Amino acid sequence: MIVAAQDRYQRMMYNRCGHSGLKLPAISLGLWHNFGGVDVFETSAKMIHRAFDAGITHFDLANNYGPPPGSAEENFGRILRRDLMAYRDEMIISTKAGYYMWEGPYGEWGSRKYLLSSLDRSLQRMGLDYVDIFYSHRPDPETPLEETMGALDTVVRQGKALYAGISNYPADKALEASQILRSLGTPCLIHQPRYSMLDRWVEKDLLNVLESEGIGCIAFSPLAQGLLTDRYLQGVPDGSRAAKPHGFLKKDQITTEMLSVIKALDQIASSRSQSLAQMAIAWLLKDHRVTSVLVGASSVGQLNNNLKALDHLDFTGDELEAIEKILG
Ligand SMILES: NC(=O)c1ccc[n+]([C@@H]2O[C@H](COP(=O)([O-])OP(=O)(O)OC[C@H]3O[C@@H](n4cnc5c(N)ncnc54)[C@H](OP(=O)(O)O)[C@@H]3O)[C@@H](O)[C@H]2O)c1
Repeated sequence: MIVAAQDRYQRMMYNRCGHSGLKLPAISLGLWHNFGGVDVFETSAKMIHRAFDAGITHFDLANNYGPPPGSAEENFGRILRRDLMAYRDEMIISTKAGYYMWEGPYGEWGSRKYLLSSLDRSLQRMGLDYVDIFYSHRPDPETPLEETMGALDTVVRQGKALYAGISNYPADKALEASQILRSLGTPCLIHQPRYSMLDRWVEKDLLNVLESEGIGCIAFSPLAQGLLTDRYLQGVPDGSRAAKPHGFLKKDQITTEMLSVIKALDQIASSRSQSLAQMAIAWLLKDHRVTSVLVGASSVGQLNNNLKALDHLDFTGDELEAIEKILG
């Protein structure tokens, strides 16, 4: 077991998640990349330790995180049991089901059959009795929403999850899901959409729906998988996500036009005495509807850099205008 930093709760800001009783750290840590079987276990462990010491109470997983799928949950479970189990009640651990996990008709999407089996497997891999949040990872165009939401309600009633969440649901489906969940007596705690300076689809309708339904919002890929950092300013470094065969960021996404946007944003960040990553996080947190920003990291150094975003969250009108001009 490790002894966590005494001052960890003085270092972080906590925001209420929608109309719920739950507060989440302004910055949460995601285990999609860099915590799998292909990664260096002790580096993953150090990032979890550092995050918890900095007041990051929320760790986000999914059944398929790795690679190989499931290995991020196994590694997180090992780290938890070895180092941090004494702090389980101070942590919000989430997992999800929705993407492909196993063969046959019950290994993905949104059936009750898949969601319930998948959560059991996730709990086994992590060595936990319950997760704090269980998500439907994506809407299923073929399964009735009542069935998918019914499965979330069931796992909460079983005590295998404390709260229910949805991810990647468009605004209309999110509203419908929220109404169903409320009618079942298990309100939707949170929505997890992709949201960054480079991907603003949530601003059209979704954020308003979440606010009016009292649902929190946790923004994933806030750094656009590393594009909104200094990572690719001088080419594609070895070991970066874009250089990895299993990375979801592809080299061809780093176009000349993209680089000119990133460089222009980086200049504004410099004028604010911030890194681009810090400015990208602060820019999301300026909206009171965003409960938490869910970052990824491949080193403790990156995590430390991202945490410093909290030192400078406010923007002047001129800065916001200049950013809008660049983002077009
Ligand atoms: N619900 C969903 O469908 C869904 C989908 C995607 C993600 N997520 C969640 O969101 C989490 C975050 O997603 P993400 O990893 O794409 O987030 P991200 O924060 O946009 O990207 C993280 C990557 O950016 C680079 N990076 C981070 N901080 C940096 C810094 N200070 N300086 C330079 N580079 C930095 C690192 O890339 P390198 O690895 O190259 O160093 C890191 O792996 C995931 O772990 C997962 O929990 C959910």
